[in-house]
Formats: sequence, structure tokens, C-alpha cells
Amino acid sequence: MFEYTLESGVIVSPGKKPYSGKLGIKGEKISSPCGSVKIDLKGNSFIYPSLINTHDHLQGNYRPPVGPQNGNFYLTWLPWDNDLKASDTFKERSQLTREDLYALSGYKCLFSGVTTVNDHFPHKFNSQILPTLPVRAIQEYTIEHECSSYDLKWGDGIEIEHEIAVKNKWPFITHLSEGFDNEAMHSIEKLEKMNVLDNHCLFIHCIGFSDEDILKVAKAGASISWCGFSNMFMFNVTAKVRKMIKAGVNVTIGTDSSATGSANLLAEIKYDRELYRNLYGEDIGAENLFNMTTINAAKAFWMQDKTGSLDEGKLGDILVLKANNSDPYENIVNAGMHDIELLVLGGVPIYGETRFLDIFNGKLPGDYTQIKVGNKLMFVKGDPAGLYKSARKKIGFKKELDFLPFEPEQEG
Ligand SMILES: [Fe+2]
Repeated sequence: MFEYTLESGVIVSPGKKPYSGKLGIKGEKISSPCGSVKIDLKGNSFIYPSLINTHDHLQGNYRPPVGPQNGNFYLTWLPWDNDLKASDTFKERSQLTREDLYALSGYKCLFSGVTTVNDHFPHKFNSQILPTLPVRAIQEYTIEHECSSYDLKWGDGIEIEHEIAVKNKWPFITHLSEGFDNEAMHSIEKLEKMNVLDNHCLFIHCIGFSDEDILKVAKAGASISWCGFSNMFMFNVTAKVRKMIKAGVNVTIGTDSSATGSANLLAEIKYDRELYRNLYGEDIGAENLFNMTTINAAKAFWMQDKTGSLDEGKLGDILVLKANNSDPYENIVNAGMHDIELLVLGGVPIYGETRFLDIFNGKLPGDYTQIKVGNKLMFVKGDPAGLYKSARKKIGFKKELDFLPFEPEQEG
């Protein structure tokens, strides 16, 4: 069982003023300072809750994105699926196994400070593989693909899935209103009629919501996952985020898969800030973006008692970033993959600078490897360099995946 204390860093947790202090880890949870191992951050780091990505498809993370041809944006997601399957990118991707793609996606999360993610895919296809990832892909959710007559029928039906969510205190997660056909424009009315619009709902995209829909969603206490990059890439329109925030909707951020979305959540946060500026001529606020990717996301997953902030008793899900900016919120919003110093999942360090090896009593566990990120030697759970090399071999050339911040051929 791990017992250690992070010292001399500034602790940044949603809803609290950042403060200089110590943060203990005892077993899987955050505690008061404890144990004999003291990790001295030397006053150059911020300690945050690790990030939560509310929307991804872990089998679909490959590059480059595939989207509308000749500038003709889509009306619904359906033609995208056809374009993807017909693309050279898809052919190339198909040389990797499902296991390869899931493992790469796990590292897409890890290298962007994300320790909790939802793989929007049916349980029967992902329940065995999710526990093999280096991060937490939640299993406690119910699902519908999109709640339209032509969706992919991923669950047992909207009412049944929603009822299971309510019974278990889980989220009911579905794409919703991803487009502008008649069904997408009336999706909230449909859910209202079915009596399933409530605070268990986590709606992905929501680009066709009317002002009235937004008010209904706010009143119901439902959450939305804003996937700005993916929306603009496919539809050239995104959700009415400012109205949603003003109405009090619990807004979170999702990357979507990198087949249409950003490289990772750090890139998505930056993109969404810029998008908001372009749409509304004002700044969304760095602290708001931080909240959307921590506590708001934890709430959307019905995990607010477990993660999303650094309160004692919650899981030790921690992201330590180099302090490049004196404002901790600007610091995280502007951070890149190279700024991560340490990433902890449920008390267990899964990625970090080798100066923190004291946490492991100086000896790296057998299921960890080391890689060079920039000029820093990092320890990491699993073997991402081996995975990257093997993927390149299968693809047949030196494929660059921009969500992996290292060059595997250097690792020997
Ligand atoms: Fe999606």
C-alpha cells in the first residue's frame, strides 16, 4: 500500500482558493500528510485533480481525422460513418487489432493527464478490455447510441437503460442532437415524453438544442459533454455553450475520438477556449474550463464523491504540472503533454518524472517502463514504446500519432 506526501506545491481544487500545502496519499485515497516518503515539489509545481474526459470512443483513436469532403459539412453523423469506413485512414487503422487501439487510447488519456474516461461503446464489447488500460475507463454507466430511430441500438432501449442508471446511481450516456434533422431537433421532447429527462442524463454534443431545450436540460439537472473540435470539424456548428452555462447546465468537455476530435483533452480545452472567444467575443475563463474537466465531469459520471477534487477521502487521482504561469488555472489550460510531472490514479503513480521514484522505494515495479519525453526521463505504467513500435510495424511505416509525446525508436 502506498503512503506518501506531496510537499511544497500549490494545491488547486475546484471551489477552493489555491493554497500552498501538503497532500497525503494513503492507499488509494487522499489523506492528511502521511508516510515516511516525502515528495518535494520545490515550489515549482501545481497539484490538481487529474482530468476527466466525458466522451471518447477508445476503439477509434487514430490520426488524421476523417470528415466531410469538399467543405460540405454534415447534417447528421450518419454520412460520416460511411466516409470513415471508405477512407484510407480507416484502411490503415484496420491493420491494428482492437487491443492495440484500446491500448493506444489508454495512453492518449494518460499522456494528457486524464485518469477517468468514458468509452462510449456497449458493455458487451468493452467490459473485458477496459480493465487492461493504464487509466480508469468507467464501467458504471448505461448507454444509448443516440436516441434516434436510426441509431446503432447500443443499449437495451432508452427506458430500460435509464431505469438501470437510476437504480444504480449511474449516468445514462447518449449522443444527442448531433445534427439538424427532424429527430435531432426534437430529441429533448422525445426524452421528456418518455419521462427519462433527469440528472442521470449525460448528453453528448447537443448541437441542435433550442433555447427551450437548454432550459429544460438545466431544470432537469442533466449534464452535457461539449466536443467543440469534433462538432466544428463535422458540422461547422457547436453547442450553444454560453447559453448552457448561463442557464446552469452542468457542462463538461469531451474529446470524442480523434477520428473527428482533438488529439487529446489538453488540446480540446485550448481549442474550446478559442472557439468560445470566436463565437462570443469573450473569454470563457480558465477556471471554468478547469471545473468542466474535473468536478463537473465527476458529477456527470455520478462520481463526485470519489473524484474530481482533492478532498480528503476521495480517490488519489492527481495531476502535478510544472508551474509555467503564476495563475494555476491559466497554467493547466495552457499546459501541454510535456508539462506533466506526475500522474496518479487511485493513489498509484502511473506516469511521472524519475525524480519521484522514491514513491516506489527507488525501484520501478516490473510492469513499468521508462521513456524520454522531451529531455525528461519518465516512468510509465506498461510499455507504450513497445506498443508504438509494434503498431508501426503492423502499419508498415513510421506512423506519427500526435497524442503520444515520445519517439519510440529512441527507447532501445
Ligand atoms: Fe461520439
